[in-house]
Amino acid sequence: MIFEGKSVVLGVTGGIAAYKAAALCSQLVKAGAAVDVILTEAARQFVAPLTFQAVTHRPAVTEMFFLLAETEIGHVSLAKRADVLIVAPATANTIAKLAAGLADNMLTTTALATRAPILLAPAMESQMWTSPLTQANVDRLRQYRDVTLVGPGEGRLASGATGVGRMAEPEEIVDAARWLLGRGGPMAGRRVVITAGGTREPLDPIRFLGNRSSGQMGYALARASRDRGAQVILVSTAGQPAPFGTTLVPVETAAEMHDAVMQAFPDADVLLMAAAVADYRPVAAAPHKIRKREDDLALKLTRTADILAEVATRRRADQVVVGFAAETEHLLENALDKLRRKRLDLIVANDPRQAMGAATSEITLIAADGVVDELPPLPKGEVAGRVLDWVAALVTKDEHLHLR
Ligand code: CTP
Repeated sequence: MIFEGKSVVLGVTGGIAAYKAAALCSQLVKAGAAVDVILTEAARQFVAPLTFQAVTHRPAVTEMFFLLAETEIGHVSLAKRADVLIVAPATANTIAKLAAGLADNMLTTTALATRAPILLAPAMESQMWTSPLTQANVDRLRQYRDVTLVGPGEGRLASGATGVGRMAEPEEIVDAARWLLGRGGPMAGRRVVITAGGTREPLDPIRFLGNRSSGQMGYALARASRDRGAQVILVSTAGQPAPFGTTLVPVETAAEMHDAVMQAFPDADVLLMAAAVADYRPVAAAPHKIRKREDDLALKLTRTADILAEVATRRRADQVVVGFAAETEHLLENALDKLRRKRLDLIVANDPRQAMGAATSEITLIAADGVVDELPPLPKGEVAGRVLDWVAALVTKDEHLHLR
């Protein structure tokens, strides 16, 4: 949705990662963006304009084209049209040119002329990236322009060496562009705390009691909140990196999740409690591996703190609290009962047998005023979007937002 009707200019410069720019371009097009590609001369040593033309159904702009068809393209028309300029890969050379304000090819000219935010995905050998000159160029760019960096990451580089300088993966670059485009959205300036995944309660140093929650829904909610401009704190057991633009607080047990939520909640506008939190944990974790014996083994479990129940006693009226109800029977009645007991503004009910680990979810939303919204099976990303439409309506007190 966020790329729908948006113009993305993708600048590709001459690095081996240029081949990944084709995958990036394809993902941007699939996401709904209108993509214009500019290739520098060096980029054309690595990838052909035709590759991009085939994906975008538009001419890929090169220096040659620029010179021959100046009137048709107009050297600042792309700069004006762009909602975001992505440079991926961004070589040390192009970063230096951008920092110096040079306009010696179509890409640097467009970058100088545009007022759109710029997203750079640097890719180069470690020594070039860590050079004080490259770092100074990045600082200078940040000082004068609305520039965001995605990556570079650590990994195997073109030279065969391992180090910092690897271009961010296309998915991460798309994610960063979403964050950029969503900054002014309906949740701008709001803080959202989201819990994700299933808690793990240790039995001994190598075993735990857990559940099947993958954390996918929590991560989808984090992205959906971020795409609407929110500042996101993601308290997660899932062990996956934070989506671009969000802050990850890694936890494992219900007690750790409890502490992380209690710390973040006072400053939050919204709490989305999507995690599957253990209701019981072993009374004590064995300090050493539990050995098998001839007879049966009984585990003694004790209750964990109910995070939402505690939040209910501390929450302010201006905070929006959303619970999730995993119900294998009497879905609506049980969810409604939880909504009331835990003083929630909204509860998202589903049958976990259908949802856990699956790509789609079938959920029912119940608001405190009794309004029920039954959604058809949808991909988790879309479900998260629907939940956030409700949340944005509750936060901004705009009753019409969720009825769109
Ligand atoms: N939850 C929580 N702390 C717990 C257990 C659950 O905050 N110790 C939250 C979950 O994150 C979810 C909501 O409470 O948002 C509902 O969780 P669920 O386990 O379905 O409900 P319970 O209140 O534990 O009720 P029951 O076990 O009777 O189904």
